[in-house]
Amino acid sequence: MAKLLGIDVGTSGCKVLLIDETGHVLKQASAEYPLSVPRPLWSEQNPEDWWTGVQTCLAEIGETHLDGIGVTGQMHGAVFLDASDQVIRPAILWNDQRTVEECKEIDRRVGVDRVRAITCNPPLTGFQAPKLLWLRNNEPDQYRRVRSLLLPKDFIRMKLTGVKATEVSDASGTGLFDVPNRKWSDEMLSKLDLDPHIFPASVESSQVTGRTAAGIPVVGGGGDQAAGAVGTGAVKRGIISVSLGTSGVVFTAIDEANYDKSGAAHTFCHANGKWHAMGVMLSCGGALRWYRDTIAKGSTYDEIGSESAQAPVGCDGLTFLPYLTGERCPHNDPYARSAFAGLTLGHTRAHLSRAVFEGISFGLLEGLDLLLGLGAESEEVRVTSGGAKSAFWVQMLADVFEKPCSTLECDEGPAYGAAILAGVGIGVWSDVVSACEETVKIRSSISPAGSDYSGSFGKYQWLYRQTHDWNHP
Ligand code: XUL
Repeated sequence: MAKLLGIDVGTSGCKVLLIDETGHVLKQASAEYPLSVPRPLWSEQNPEDWWTGVQTCLAEIGETHLDGIGVTGQMHGAVFLDASDQVIRPAILWNDQRTVEECKEIDRRVGVDRVRAITCNPPLTGFQAPKLLWLRNNEPDQYRRVRSLLLPKDFIRMKLTGVKATEVSDASGTGLFDVPNRKWSDEMLSKLDLDPHIFPASVESSQVTGRTAAGIPVVGGGGDQAAGAVGTGAVKRGIISVSLGTSGVVFTAIDEANYDKSGAAHTFCHANGKWHAMGVMLSCGGALRWYRDTIAKGSTYDEIGSESAQAPVGCDGLTFLPYLTGERCPHNDPYARSAFAGLTLGHTRAHLSRAVFEGISFGLLEGLDLLLGLGAESEEVRVTSGGAKSAFWVQMLADVFEKPCSTLECDEGPAYGAAILAGVGIGVWSDVVSACEETVKIRSSISPAGSDYSGSFGKYQWLYRQTHDWNHP
């Protein structure tokens, strides 16, 4: 029976998963690495730390008889390499907000309508293109040394195979990709005066890109959201997947490259040969992690969850905005900031804890409303990633969404999806949709329990509007 490996280069750490061709998870390993915030709203990591983490996990898994490998990871990161493929400076990550001016520069040079028609998205601070312009504008000596620009998972591919390549789902998040036509955009590159040779060749997500020294094929894989959607089976209309990772994402597969003219949602190439739409909030598990490491220092996530359950729905009027690193969808507002509002002497730590879960869940509801407003169908909502382990949180989502939410046998959506893509690439399954039908299994389905969050959600939306002018320079 084929053995398939999925490697996920996440933001808090990496995960490696070994599955067989029934989709059963045989082994898994994970390793953490640091995140650096050299200035407020900057976010960087050392790509060599990712590779050390992946090597640690591979050693722990200890499997040498592999049939295929798929790679996935945090999207949009800029890994700048010199002529010897050495890292020039720390990678600038998806949740970094330093490139406000460069996004304006892209619109100016390419034209507002052309950028959206080609890339299906506005230029956004987290995307790779404005980061390259930022390097040109701010660190010209480093810029002159750049010979390759890779995405995080593609750096790991290079380490595994020596090949520099990417695939369509992650390339879509560079802001330089012709998303309807699934190829690099000559027009974007030439209007921004960028050297096309620094970008790796792009393939479809299940295509083999190269082999390890031991001859194991490595497929394209996917950005963590597209691969994660493969891992939840969100590869056809009607299934909405919700990922509760460092970022929070509401995702649906779509059949055509239609994009949101307001720019509030993203349209990217999907790993199934079609496209997907999604709403991305920047601080989901990331906000919870901040809360655990600061206000609730010394508590575990489980303890924070149990304490939250003791506070009432709506937290007696306490509202939390989770915009600790600005916000992407639906606001696209790098200057958005977090807040607790409505505190009284009657509030306890349990209220604060619950308000964090509620605020994040309201952010996800905005993502869901965005996709439903664009015509998505939500016959089923499937929840994945770290937060899916919390029954308390999944129940809250079912109540806030007013829809049943399912959890899956395997919560490691991206690594699981990457392993499935490897299986498709080596012919275990004929296509991504049938691979998901054979492997992805529902663990439980949680129905709404009738809690009414509508007033609290209204306050949350009001609070963001009120804080807007306060936060903008
Ligand atoms: C997706 C996004 C994040 C990162 C990190 O657009 O920015 O989900 O991929 O997970």
